[in-house]
Amino acid sequence: MVTRWPTLIEDGDGLLILDQTRLPREAAMLRLATLEDAAHAIRAMQVRGAPLIGATAAYGVALGLAGDADDARLDEVIATLAATRPTAVNLHWALARMERVLRKSAPAARRDRAWQEARTIAAEDMAANSAIGNHGLPLLQARRKGKDPIQVMTHCNAGRLATVEHGTAIAPIYAAHAAGLPVHVWVSETRPRNQGLLTAWELAEAGVPHTLIADNAAGLLLMQGKVDLVIVGADRIAANGDTANKVGTYLKALAARAHGVPFYVAAPLSTIDFACPTGREIPIEERAAEELGAGSVPVANPAFDVTPAALIAGIISERGVAAADSLGQWR
Ligand code: MRU
Repeated sequence: MVTRWPTLIEDGDGLLILDQTRLPREAAMLRLATLEDAAHAIRAMQVRGAPLIGATAAYGVALGLAGDADDARLDEVIATLAATRPTAVNLHWALARMERVLRKSAPAARRDRAWQEARTIAAEDMAANSAIGNHGLPLLQARRKGKDPIQVMTHCNAGRLATVEHGTAIAPIYAAHAAGLPVHVWVSETRPRNQGLLTAWELAEAGVPHTLIADNAAGLLLMQGKVDLVIVGADRIAANGDTANKVGTYLKALAARAHGVPFYVAAPLSTIDFACPTGREIPIEERAAEELGAGSVPVANPAFDVTPAALIAGIISERGVAAADSLGQWR
């Protein structure tokens, strides 16, 4: 029997997470017992990827309400978790949902209610991503030429490690693999945090053929006709379809457009921020200079960039595939 590492699993009154800062060198679960543990795990990217950050934050609220659960403590717990990472809107979506539900509960009932709602958020994430896989599968099938494997390029890690299960950009690839379609994935590395290694790790675990490339090799492969389609995930999609994802995504979209290769974004509805009109309003996380390992050299380290809706062939969500400029139908 194939057993796979869970990204997150309940453990009594704590939460076990797969520590992604130790992958791919070693797979090890880490126990989160407190609000501070959860906030640190998100900030330090022990858990990462927009949907998984959202689910972890929801459980973080439950951990934070283990003692006091009055209104002041609820405010403090939400504020602590909200301050961890700015771009992935799933974090803020999950916290808003937890707050809405918990405000209605009496303080004595809040802790149990928080565990229940976090569990529901996690279960919904799995279901949404599984549906994304099914909706994205025909897009892969449509690009198949003869008997050759379908060549998919992805960037960063938007696989199951970035979610509770199934992944977003990788979900259609898993669906194709499960359906017996030959597929090969060009896995674009991501400076400076190397999330491409995470994608390679999980594709290896699932037995999906793949090849790791440096981010900047993507343009060449697209130019050489080695890519049938590009699928990436998202950290926040504005109402007009502009999409924030790991820095380097925009350059892939430009190169894909230049070479006539369709560029898709896969994300659950929890990643769409209808309150954010365009990509210009999406907050871009600036991470520590140390991540670039550049010593005392002046450094800018934006962790995300924004791909304009006009470069996106379609957005795949649990509701289906929509043109990036017509997301209003999912409101
Ligand atoms: O900084 P990270 O590793 O959390 O960034 C992750 C990404 O950019 C993913 O592509 C995005 O969250 C989609 S996850 C399904």
